[in-house]
Amino acid sequence: MNRRPIIEPFRIKVVEPIRVTRAAERRAILERARYNLFGVHGDDVIIDLLTDSGTGAMSAEQWAAMMRGDESYAGARSFYRFEAAVAGLTGMPHIYPTHQGRAAERILCDVVPLARRVVLSNGLFDTTRANVEAAGAIGVDLPLAGTVSRSPGAEPLPFGGDMDVERLDAALARHAGQVAIVVMTVTNNTLGGQAVSLANLRAVAERVRAVPVRERPLLVLDACRFAENAYRISADEAAERGRPLREIARAMFDLVDAFTMSAKKDAIVNTGGILGVRDHALAEKIRVDLIRTEGFTTYGGLAGRDLEAIAQGLEEVLDPSYLEYRFAASRYLASALAAAGWPVIEPAAAHAVYVDAGLALPHLREEDLPGQSLACALYLAGGVRTCEIGALMFGAAGRGRRQLVRLALPRRVYTQSHVDYVATVGAEIALVRDRLPAMRILEQPPSLRHFTAAMAPASPFPDLG
Ligand code: F0G
Repeated sequence: MNRRPIIEPFRIKVVEPIRVTRAAERRAILERARYNLFGVHGDDVIIDLLTDSGTGAMSAEQWAAMMRGDESYAGARSFYRFEAAVAGLTGMPHIYPTHQGRAAERILCDVVPLARRVVLSNGLFDTTRANVEAAGAIGVDLPLAGTVSRSPGAEPLPFGGDMDVERLDAALARHAGQVAIVVMTVTNNTLGGQAVSLANLRAVAERVRAVPVRERPLLVLDACRFAENAYRISADEAAERGRPLREIARAMFDLVDAFTMSAKKDAIVNTGGILGVRDHALAEKIRVDLIRTEGFTTYGGLAGRDLEAIAQGLEEVLDPSYLEYRFAASRYLASALAAAGWPVIEPAAAHAVYVDAGLALPHLREEDLPGQSLACALYLAGGVRTCEIGALMFGAAGRGRRQLVRLALPRRVYTQSHVDYVATVGAEIALVRDRLPAMRILEQPPSLRHFTAAMAPASPFPDLG
């Protein structure tokens, strides 16, 4: 019996042309960008899988809402719509807009005393870690062992984004009185985009609540892909199976004291962030900081129209047919790449497919940046832009981690033929993968080096594309 394909549950009303580059042109472009894909112009990319952040396509309803945006400096109608949508979803009493997720993180790190303290997490995203460290704290990730170590052939963990609760117990004991924040990132972006189970969130919340009140850390959800995480819980967590997505999402937020959210992901907008907290005293401090650095509390660095688009996007993202299509697209890409011989992280996340370049290119050592070599090859072969998540991104802090390339899928942007194209490019590279060169760093900034480092291949790339 033929299974019907899961379709893109939308029609295309506005199109944006793609400029199709040739291989020789791409070689020159990459050389000019000094082998850093962040230095390549968007017009020189055929399929842009660099990130799923701010790259989604808004719906007709979101564009219509933008036209209704109220740009009043204070008390804009659009803020109240935004606030009602976010409060309805999260139950948080204090909700503030910010210009993007990292601004929410930065404000939180300003108002919670962090100097010489510790922040524990299932996996801090790089901006979160940078904000935590800039405030003088140490960020410690406590992922499950199987998620970070190389385990070829090992059974995939259904909720590989979980925090290792035993390691949490040990860390709370070791750093007693010093832990300021516990961050649960859903989904766990830096660790293969793996989902976090509701059971794990509950277990972590229990541990945090067991800490004496005066020393109790703030439990924070980094919620930017909350809907994709909720979908995985409803599909794969036995105790929660089939529960309405909105209810699951609410259960996630109910467990925490605060959340930060980049609206550029699961609110399906091009820019925006949200900070939500329960505590009134903390909210007071946030308001002061927000007004000083982002804008008045009813716009926080955004336009009224952005707030409208976020409110609408938060409704649309929980549509089960949208999330079903979203997971189908990434699983389709993951299985095509796996069929071509690429080791991919299973189960595939919704927002991205992660290829383990360290395993795929055993002739390259960690310091040869296998992930960056593969990312450059994908660009040279097919104008496909991706992102290295490995030794280049993490430097010394990432020693022993998997060397990943992330193929992130913008929301509602690419169709199945685009995904087929990417899979074909991947299959072409697989044929010459043992000849992909080591990459050398020529220049690098002191932190967040992957954005601007200049690189070069140690030997020429094989002919690609
Ligand atoms: N937290 C997570 C888990 C993220 O993935 C991101 C952004 C942020 C926080 C910061 O949000 O960009 O709005 O300031 N991730 C993007 C990515 C950049 O490509 O994964 P932001």
